[in-house]
Amino acid sequence: MRFTSTALGVFSLLGFSLPSVYAANATFFPLMNMTDSAGDLIQAHGGCIIQAGNGGGDWYWFGTDRTGQAADAHFEAVNCYKSADFSTWDFVGPVLTPIPNTNISNSSVLQRPKVLYNDKNSEYVMWWHADNADYSEAAVGVATSKTIDGKYEWKGNFQPFGNQSRDMTVWKDPDTQVAYLIYATNNNADLSIARLTDDYLNVSKTLYTFHGVYEEAPGVFKIDGKFYLVESPQNGWTPTNNAYYVASSMSGPWSKSTLLAPDTAYTYLTQNTYDIVINGTSQQFYLYLGDHWNGNQLATSSYAFYPVIHKGNSLSIHYTGGWTLDAATGVWTDLPYELITAKMSTTSRKTLVACGDGCAGGKAANMTSSTNFSFTWNGSAGAKVLQIVYTYPGPNNDFQQIGVTVDGKAAPGNALMESTLGTSFGQMAPFPVTLKKGSKVVLNLLDYDGTAFLVDAVRVYDSPTAAPPGY
Ligand SMILES: *[C@@H]1O[C@H](CO)[C@@H](O)[C@H](O)[C@H]1NC(C)=O
Ligand SMILES: *[C@@H]1O[C@H](CO)[C@@H](O)[C@H](O)[C@H]1NC(C)=O
Ligand SMILES: *[C@@H]1O[C@H](CO)[C@@H](O)[C@H](O)[C@H]1NC(C)=O
Ligand SMILES: *[C@@H]1O[C@H](CO)[C@@H](O)[C@H](O)[C@H]1NC(C)=O
Ligand SMILES: *[C@@H]1O[C@H](CO)[C@@H](O)[C@H](O)[C@H]1NC(C)=O
Ligand SMILES: *[C@@H]1O[C@H](CO)[C@@H](O)[C@H](O)[C@H]1NC(C)=O
Ligand SMILES: *[C@@H]1O[C@H](CO)[C@@H](O)[C@H](O)[C@H]1NC(C)=O
Ligand SMILES: *[C@@H]1O[C@H](CO)[C@@H](O)[C@H](O)[C@H]1NC(C)=O
Ligand SMILES: *[C@@H]1O[C@H](CO)[C@@H](O)[C@H](O)[C@H]1NC(C)=O
Ligand SMILES: *[C@@H]1O[C@H](CO)[C@@H](O)[C@H](O)[C@H]1NC(C)=O
Repeated sequence: MRFTSTALGVFSLLGFSLPSVYAANATFFPLMNMTDSAGDLIQAHGGCIIQAGNGGGDWYWFGTDRTGQAADAHFEAVNCYKSADFSTWDFVGPVLTPIPNTNISNSSVLQRPKVLYNDKNSEYVMWWHADNADYSEAAVGVATSKTIDGKYEWKGNFQPFGNQSRDMTVWKDPDTQVAYLIYATNNNADLSIARLTDDYLNVSKTLYTFHGVYEEAPGVFKIDGKFYLVESPQNGWTPTNNAYYVASSMSGPWSKSTLLAPDTAYTYLTQNTYDIVINGTSQQFYLYLGDHWNGNQLATSSYAFYPVIHKGNSLSIHYTGGWTLDAATGVWTDLPYELITAKMSTTSRKTLVACGDGCAGGKAANMTSSTNFSFTWNGSAGAKVLQIVYTYPGPNNDFQQIGVTVDGKAAPGNALMESTLGTSFGQMAPFPVTLKKGSKVVLNLLDYDGTAFLVDAVRVYDSPTAAPPGY
């Protein structure tokens, strides 16, 4: 059954709210700014998303607040958001905040908060990477709460078995209730898996160590009794080729690692942060949550949700510019889009060059400060999301801003195009706009640094939500 926003309006006029069985489908545009139900930018980086207890009910998204941060990663808060269906997120509030003059003050580093429900003590246990500004503390922090939405009470920071711990995750096996810490140790060279104690407040035993791998950002999918340990190579905030190991037990033996995406794609400019198995009523579904870090402006880092395809013993991220998920059934689908290739556009013909990435139409617009990508929209009127398909052979991890003008009026905001060294992969940068039939759309580079962008095409998606005011 499909409810349009008009139908929803009628329901609220009648004075009753929709029961949760009418939960909406979630729509994802990877890398696009996400706002909560109050319209504020979601600040939940390096996060996790879990349901209360042992499943069922609302989803809770925990992550770090980086409001106002440039390159200065420091602890502001662990935020919590809540959703029935991944479609809209209500801001619950900060659930852990700095405590002056302690190891979790506002000058400490707190990253990758992860929350588990502990059956034994009927409480929620949060773990994170705890550090000081120069990363020499190299510890984990632990806090607990009787309710999922906090406040969480800090228990202390410590080094597992007295060893260093930096990037990490904790993960609970839903079948056995056994939980694990997976952490980078030994000066970041090793990735180690430890079993937690039954109360989830400490480590009890080392199960396996990958030596000399220099990996981070771990996460786990358990599918058909097999464990898939997802990880990223270490390269600061720069996107890397995320990969996974497979084993029949968390103690190993683990397979060699396999990439989750083509090796020129740098995991579509994301880094793994959490991996979710959704047992839908129609099918089991695998959800990848990645961070799209902007290391120069951490506050503007965004997120990417992608479907993960499981075949045999292999996983791959399904590359898409827009898709929907019915979290109740586990059924997902790519959204249709209209493709405006460079050849179809009204971009100056002089600007078109052959594209090395096999782009649709065979030509890309070579964009500098003096060349724009423009087109006339002939499709339906309404809220849209443009996914700008581009390659940018600039220096590693450089961000450039692209602005969009519709009928002579600049839309607020800018899409961030990121360069990755030595790749010609067609990445996407999203931008919300409102179009009408006949709208003249112009994309222009705002801060040309001497390296041209090649814009292959623009995908135009219908957006289920109106663009923010002014777009
Ligand atoms: C939700 O998505 C499913 C699967 O793609 C689709 O069959 C269904 O019609 C959608 N429901 C709504 C309310 O749009
Ligand atoms: C950090 O906390 C101290 C109080 O402990 C406060 O004076 C200071 O303004 C805070 N700094 C930031 C960046 O929030
Ligand atoms: C604070 O961090 C230090 C290491 O830098 C550690 O020895 C100490 O136990 C920590 N204290 C608390 C209360 O977490
Ligand atoms: C946590 O476990 C370690 C290693 O087993 C042990 O040395 C330490 O005392 C434990 N800490 C607490 C607070 O129980
Ligand atoms: C999903 O269902 C399978 C099969 O019943 C079960 O083994 C697994 O624990 C469930 N996963 C979650 C996350 O609840
Ligand atoms: C602690 O680190 C040392 C050095 O890397 C290693 O030999 C030892 O096995 C580690 N301890 C545990 C319990 O993992
Ligand atoms: C794009 O234009 C710039 C500046 O004119 C030029 O240096 C560069 O070679 C062009 N790129 C391609 C692929 O033609
Ligand atoms: C490119 O677009 C911007 C914004 O619409 C406009 O100011 C500029 O004049 C355009 N440049 C060219 C060469 O058309
Ligand atoms: C829109 O229609 C006009 C007039 O028919 C045409 O010139 C233009 O190429 C069309 N735009 C696209 C993107 O197809
Ligand atoms: C995304 O949010 C950031 C931070 O507020 C802003 O600078 C940027 O313009 C936004 N981008 C778009 C496309 O709205």
